[in-house]
Amino acid sequence: MRTLPVALLFPLTAAVTSAWSPPTYDGFNLVWSDAFSGNESGQLPSQETWDIIDKDLGLNNELETYCASPENVQLSGKGTLQIVPRRNSSVQNGWTSGRIESKHAFTPELGRRTVAEAYIRFGSNPTDTKKGMWPAFWVLGNSSRAGTKWPGCGELDILETVNGVLEGHGTAHCNTSPGGICDETTGLTSQTSVPNQDWQLWRMIWDRSTDASDWQSENITWWANHKLFHTITGNQIGDSGVWATLAHAPLFFILNVAVGGALPGNPNSTTADGYGAMMEVGYVAQYVSQ
Ligand SMILES: *[C@@H]1O[C@H](CO)[C@@H](O)[C@H](O)[C@H]1NC(C)=O
Ligand SMILES: *[C@@H]1O[C@H](CO)[C@@H](O)[C@H](O)[C@H]1NC(C)=O
Ligand SMILES: *[C@@H]1O[C@H](CO)[C@@H](O)[C@H](O)[C@H]1NC(C)=O
Ligand SMILES: *[C@@H]1O[C@H](CO)[C@@H](O)[C@H](O)[C@H]1NC(C)=O
Ligand SMILES: *[C@@H]1O[C@H](CO)[C@@H](O)[C@H](O)[C@H]1NC(C)=O
Repeated sequence: MRTLPVALLFPLTAAVTSAWSPPTYDGFNLVWSDAFSGNESGQLPSQETWDIIDKDLGLNNELETYCASPENVQLSGKGTLQIVPRRNSSVQNGWTSGRIESKHAFTPELGRRTVAEAYIRFGSNPTDTKKGMWPAFWVLGNSSRAGTKWPGCGELDILETVNGVLEGHGTAHCNTSPGGICDETTGLTSQTSVPNQDWQLWRMIWDRSTDASDWQSENITWWANHKLFHTITGNQIGDSGVWATLAHAPLFFILNVAVGGALPGNPNSTTADGYGAMMEVGYVAQYVSQ
């Protein structure tokens, strides 16, 4: 791992934070956010802001059926979103869960830094009861909504964890699969350990503040609690069209908890459902440098 004086490089720390409001950062404008406010628990998040998925997407051999139900995706009533996987024998493969996708899509701007971040914690079930759990905070190329196939649409996983392990994975997917520029189906990936399942700040920065003609020196970085843990550069991708799908094409946010499938493998009989297995989100926000 490289060690950079990241605090000096990029002092993006909050001046003032109130409970789960997106912070203000010097030199940045807040472009878009959801703080999941609302006094009552058991409400769905705003359907003006989010598409709440209500089907089995049939991806990656995952087991869950996504339900637009407060059983699986709800405002907590305390300014958070909770995505809760549940055993449910009335659906195919025995699990329901939640997945929301932002209607908002953003394009990182030339000459600026774009920041996407969320505060996230996980339910307190012990790790040995989380076999098969696969929560994620990520962005996907909006061209997928018009039919561009994965991974050509571009995907950046800001945070994934698997099986309750105290490790966050950051990954870029692009180009073609298998193989291709992003080494699919693995992707260009790195991980960082986290101290516990409690609140952590997960951030991605698209840095296009470099010289306009020099897309190769643009970069995308992954940060956990202000610590850099993964970087990709235009130079590394080496193809301006593929770089565009990750660095300057419209991207939208996804928050979900998958169960089973390619990355974690399937749950076992010890796997527990419910709030102890949830992903909870304090806010999600996007900023752009002034
Ligand atoms: C929460 O409840 C208070 C007191 O009833 C009310 O003033 C406020 O508008 C409510 N906030 C939301 C987001 O519903
Ligand atoms: C189980 O799934 C069915 C079908 O989606 C749903 O109607 C029911 O409310 C679910 N039960 C629970 C406890 O989530
Ligand atoms: C389920 O998987 C977890 C994590 O690998 C393990 O600790 C546990 O013993 C497993 N349970 C069974 C019944 O195999
Ligand atoms: C995202 O994709 C949808 C569906 O193709 C389209 O209607 C919308 O305009 C796109 N948004 C952006 C910002 O490109
Ligand atoms: C990303 O690019 C910016 C602007 O060129 C540069 O200052 C920064 O050091 C780069 N970060 C990494 C981790 O390469």
